[in-house]
Amino acid sequence: CFAWGSASAQGAYPNHPISLVVPFAAGGPTDVVARSLGASMAKTLGQSIIIENRTGAGGTLASQHVARAAPDGYTFLIHHNGMATAPALYRKLSFNPLTDFAYVGQVADVPMTLLGRKDLPADGMAGFIKYAKENGNKVNLANAGLGAVSQLCGMLLQESLGVQFTTVPYAGTAPAMTALLGGQVDVLCDQTTQTIPQIKAQRVKLYGVTTLDRIKALPDAPTLQEGGLKGFEVKVWHGVYAPKGTPPEAIAKFNAALRTALKDPAFTQKMAELGAEIVPESKQTPEGLQTWLQAEVDKWGGIIRKVGVYAD
Ligand code: MLT
Repeated sequence: CFAWGSASAQGAYPNHPISLVVPFAAGGPTDVVARSLGASMAKTLGQSIIIENRTGAGGTLASQHVARAAPDGYTFLIHHNGMATAPALYRKLSFNPLTDFAYVGQVADVPMTLLGRKDLPADGMAGFIKYAKENGNKVNLANAGLGAVSQLCGMLLQESLGVQFTTVPYAGTAPAMTALLGGQVDVLCDQTTQTIPQIKAQRVKLYGVTTLDRIKALPDAPTLQEGGLKGFEVKVWHGVYAPKGTPPEAIAKFNAALRTALKDPAFTQKMAELGAEIVPESKQTPEGLQTWLQAEVDKWGGIIRKVGVYAD
């Protein structure tokens, strides 16, 4: 057992590798951010950060795992909006995002992109809307399960078009993208951290971005709002969490390493290329994350309850 607050024979924290749990499949958007962030933070911490992909139930299995993990400063979670949507989406959630965690800070904001398979017979947003309305549930929409931002985006898209697609869930949008590239599914709404390389290589059809303004990384891409979906906005944010009860000294050290990484060109340049924006310093703190999470639970809870999507 690690002796906090006393001169330990095991040396100062951290004295062995730290696990950073990712709720979705390797190679996908959350994993890309986690691996790049972990590599940068490891330089400051002097210990490696091991990425652990724990997939399932739209990210909630990973959150549950970390909520129940030993609060010893060696298990952390990186998660996105799914942390805030889970309480409204799951009637029987085994953890509470607002009470079962210690908060480290936020990382980066990421736009999403609406994509079709390369040979989808619909061009531009006007073409997409027409195709979606004419084909309804014949359209296969991939996502990463209830609680994934691909699901959130797809849900808002169907709501705003007044259509019901056939949903095909995967363990992350990495396998969902593979299915889109292989033509097994028709449509995917996914983060630029995974989609920009596929868009640039013209392996998919890009219909638009989910932010209210156009983004620097894809300046020619219209927003979905410009394409006719008034007010459509999904922006993905990322937070780093630990089990509740994690020693404040460990949180402080992990947070300091996080803030250093958010200024490290090795991390920031990669994020910029992938359309992600580092959050302002006020959000890089435990308080900044906690306050934001509370507001997001309220915001998405209201939206999801109105649409009426949930799992028992
Ligand atoms: C992933 O990392 O696979 C995605 O973030 C899943 C999602 O759509 O939320």
